[in-house]
Amino acid sequence: MLNESEVLARLLRRRPGHSLAQEFYCDPGVFRTDMEQIWYRDWLFVLPACEIPKYGDYVVHEIGNYSVVIVRGTDNEIRAFHNSCRHRGSVLCKSRKGRNPKIVCPCHQWTYELDGKLLWARDMGPDFNPAEHGLKQVHCRNASGMVYICVADEAPDFAEFAAGTARYLAMHDLENSKVAFESTIIEKGNWKLVWENNRECYHCAGNHPSLCRTFPEDPRTIGNDADGSMASLQADHLTRCESVGALSAYHISAIGDWRFVRTPLLGTSESYTMDGKVAVTRPNSSIPFKDAGALLKFRYPGTWNHFLSDPVILFRVTPISATETEVCTKWLVHKDAVEGVDYDLKRLTEVWVATNDEDREVVENNQRGIQSPAYQPGPYSETHEGGLIQFSDWYAGALVRGITGAGPSAPATLAAE
Ligand code: FES
Ligand SMILES: [Fe+2]
Repeated sequence: MLNESEVLARLLRRRPGHSLAQEFYCDPGVFRTDMEQIWYRDWLFVLPACEIPKYGDYVVHEIGNYSVVIVRGTDNEIRAFHNSCRHRGSVLCKSRKGRNPKIVCPCHQWTYELDGKLLWARDMGPDFNPAEHGLKQVHCRNASGMVYICVADEAPDFAEFAAGTARYLAMHDLENSKVAFESTIIEKGNWKLVWENNRECYHCAGNHPSLCRTFPEDPRTIGNDADGSMASLQADHLTRCESVGALSAYHISAIGDWRFVRTPLLGTSESYTMDGKVAVTRPNSSIPFKDAGALLKFRYPGTWNHFLSDPVILFRVTPISATETEVCTKWLVHKDAVEGVDYDLKRLTEVWVATNDEDREVVENNQRGIQSPAYQPGPYSETHEGGLIQFSDWYAGALVRGITGAGPSAPATLAAE
């Protein structure tokens, strides 16, 4: 098991443009470093705000050793708290989700308001001050209907990402949506392999027969991450969408941790369905045509999303161990869309249920092959795997910044070495 300085030394020896060395996908020390320097420091998507619509609605999210309660207050604000009682530390909310007017500890019934204030604690004596024993707050933001948390004491800036999200999601109404379906799978692979699989479609033709009916495999359609070049089809689509107010142009943040781009689907396709027609007749976007393609977003390390004209599909990545990762997928439709009338659940979900399972197999095969002593890092295709080059550069930069406390120029320094 590598310690942090060994992880750093190996990271600085990595060969840019190549897959990472074996230990980055397998070693528990690398996993611990990933958790401490990335997952416990950065903003993580946890749930769509529409999933907890009423005050007292809560969801528990676990990330590594942390358990966090995300709850809507009586003032409609969504807040997050460590799921640990200020008395002797018991877990407060035992279920994954539910609704409570107050947060009551199951152990000795200390009772907290939904804003974290301690309201009641039995027989604690005259010197006990409830104001000193409120719940510990976790940073929490609602960006256009998507709730993010950060468990670090000091959270990185969120304002620029939130402003970008507001601009790109202006025509996608997540607040007035509902979760029509969700699926959670465990992939027996390192979280970075889940991302590597997501960031390229080199594997699509050989693995995704249903997705390939509508999703373009050509990376230039999405916009090449390295130089921003795009096929003329993408340029035409961009002009058409932006003319009705749907921001679509490729945009990536300065340190490469988030990106938006709206890509056309194949031919006349409208949605990720087997026949390419919309899945929901009551859309949750206000884009005035159905073939608006997919607004593709990623926000490392925890989420990628597809915003179509009719549904929205949110993916959440949660590392479990060096070799296991949870992928949770939620399909959001308009809150008033009625199953069986406005959408058919199988038709809505079948392409990505199948695609997720196919990706799981690709990731698990990748993990097993990497565990062989014979594995050595191989070259990424510059044509098809620009997204992986971008992802691994972001990862290396984030880890170096975390370990050394260096500024945002760390990735460039690293690439030059
Ligand atoms: S541990 Fe929560 S009330 Fe005692
Ligand atoms: Fe895939």
